[in-house]
Amino acid sequence: MSPAASPQILDGKALAQKMQGELQAEIATLAPQVSRAPGLAVLMVGENPASAVYVRNKELACEKIGINSFGCHFPEHTSQEELEAVIQDLNQDPRVDGILVQLPLPPHLDAVALLHTIAPEKDADGLHPVNLGHLVRGEAGLRSCTPAGVMRLLTEYNLELAGKTAVVLGRSILVGKPLALMLLEKNATVTIAHSHTRNLADLTRQADILVAAIGKPQLVTADMVKPGAIVIDVGINRISLPDGKAKLVGDVDFDTVAPLASYITPVPGGIGPMTVAMLLQNTVASYLKQWAAGT
Ligand code: GUN
Repeated sequence: MSPAASPQILDGKALAQKMQGELQAEIATLAPQVSRAPGLAVLMVGENPASAVYVRNKELACEKIGINSFGCHFPEHTSQEELEAVIQDLNQDPRVDGILVQLPLPPHLDAVALLHTIAPEKDADGLHPVNLGHLVRGEAGLRSCTPAGVMRLLTEYNLELAGKTAVVLGRSILVGKPLALMLLEKNATVTIAHSHTRNLADLTRQADILVAAIGKPQLVTADMVKPGAIVIDVGINRISLPDGKAKLVGDVDFDTVAPLASYITPVPGGIGPMTVAMLLQNTVASYLKQWAAGT
């Protein structure tokens, strides 16, 4: 790879729009045959402002393409038992093909136990241990939306991964760990870096593909990037500018890193919209499976 004079932008927004158009057409054809539209239930607890924006975006996207969204918004103090009972009901509800619990949850709730309660075949976020287990084994299953969105975007631009060195910054169950497995599945040589990693810049400078998913604004700077690298920014951080205005930035310092990269995702308009598109795709996949199973 050689450094690009100007990098190609990996346009997640455009690809997500294209995918949504395709899903909308698919639903328009299928719904009369299935005698119902697909359904997605989004559970949100409390008033986390970032989560409220994400959930609203997901619900709007459902509405736009013909998925019924069953918004389940609960007050901060809702108990574990109440939420588990709601999920059990949604598991049995034939109108609901996908269920997701927006994270993070208030601290009194056990997110892992709630995710375990979701029926694996309705796990639109791909976070149930059964689906994560399928991913580890390289088997078919519902895949986590953000990492699946990263992979879909790389495929769209025909970026070959086999034999490439990939470094993933961040080891979350939502992004870092599943993404490392997906890159491995495509025969990249993968390293996960995290808060205990030593000599981080030495490591990241070896990466042909560098993914930042740590939630630290503009942490990745030009000195950490190999010329010609593909840079994927999963971060969405709100920062205050000196004039008091707020700005959305990623985990990558876009302005200094972009001139070095061969390909780079913008924030906003990169991986964020891809997460929503993959969620819709997972919901439609579950809908088709439920239909094929005669339910
Ligand atoms: N919080 C931030 N991103 C996500 C996501 O993709 N899914 C869920 N469930 N929670 C999130």
